[in-house]
Amino acid sequence: MASNEKMFPILKWAGGKTQILDKIIQNMPCKYNNYYEPFLGGASVLLNLAPNKPIFVNDINRQLVNLYTQLKENVEKVIQEVNKMDSTPCNKDLYYEARKKYNDKIAKQIFDAEAAALMIWLNKHCFNGLYRVNRQGFFNVPFNNKFYGKSINENNVRVIADYLKKSNITITCLDFEVICANVEKGDFVYFDSPYAPESVTASFTNYTFNGFSLADHERLASLFKRLDKLGAKIMLSNNDVPLIKRLYAGYNIHSFDVKRMINRDANKRFGREVIITNY
Ligand SMILES: C[S@@+](CC[C@H](N)C(=O)[O-])C[C@H]1O[C@@H](n2cnc3c(N)ncnc32)[C@H](O)[C@@H]1O
Repeated sequence: MASNEKMFPILKWAGGKTQILDKIIQNMPCKYNNYYEPFLGGASVLLNLAPNKPIFVNDINRQLVNLYTQLKENVEKVIQEVNKMDSTPCNKDLYYEARKKYNDKIAKQIFDAEAAALMIWLNKHCFNGLYRVNRQGFFNVPFNNKFYGKSINENNVRVIADYLKKSNITITCLDFEVICANVEKGDFVYFDSPYAPESVTASFTNYTFNGFSLADHERLASLFKRLDKLGAKIMLSNNDVPLIKRLYAGYNIHSFDVKRMINRDANKRFGREVIITNY
């Protein structure tokens, strides 16, 4: 690891693993060769673990991959752009102006330090830190009506950038199955795909849920089995729901309570999740 300082995720990300990090770390294998994380998201696991091994991380979200790439290659420019935006107190007009600028970058397929800075800034100023795009792929989350001060902890951002620079890391934007084509015996793969819904409705079987369909969950389970046969060590986290238990029957399934976001209904403030391993 490049520094002994603890690193924290820069973005709030749906399905972020900060709350159950201890459980994930406890359940990891002691020894492995290469580290794979095909669904990187907010990178809470990678940043906490900071493996001193060849690392292969991936996410299908092109802007998210640009953010990590820019941190690695262009961190001072990203910090400068975020600070520039933070220098004016935020209001509704400013938020929608920034959102338009960000969507223009998406439309023109521009992946640069400014796009990364906009992604960070919008994440801090949008409703609930959500990342949601419309059918055309444009970010459409409304303003949170709060006026924050700084959008980043500069020291944390620099420590992460330093880690990304000094580690042996490959960052890709591919489908999870593609990035796993190179996994070998003895490698460790941590899968944190989008969650399966708590109740499987007819719409989930036909359409995608969070962009991840029933067919994707089945494809992931087949890949898990293939990698298991190959001799890789695999861990997967998801909701504790019958679909997931059925797909991974026969593997080690550890189930536990998790706190959900504040819900008016006290019965819905806890959910159950699973960590599944083949070792
Ligand atoms: C639950 S999140 C990962 C959260 C992450 N572990 C964290 O702590 O923030 C799932 C991620 O999978 C990505 N994703 C969805 N479909 C994918 C696919 N087919 N291949 C690769 N990544 C995908 C999403 O963009 C999202 O960032």
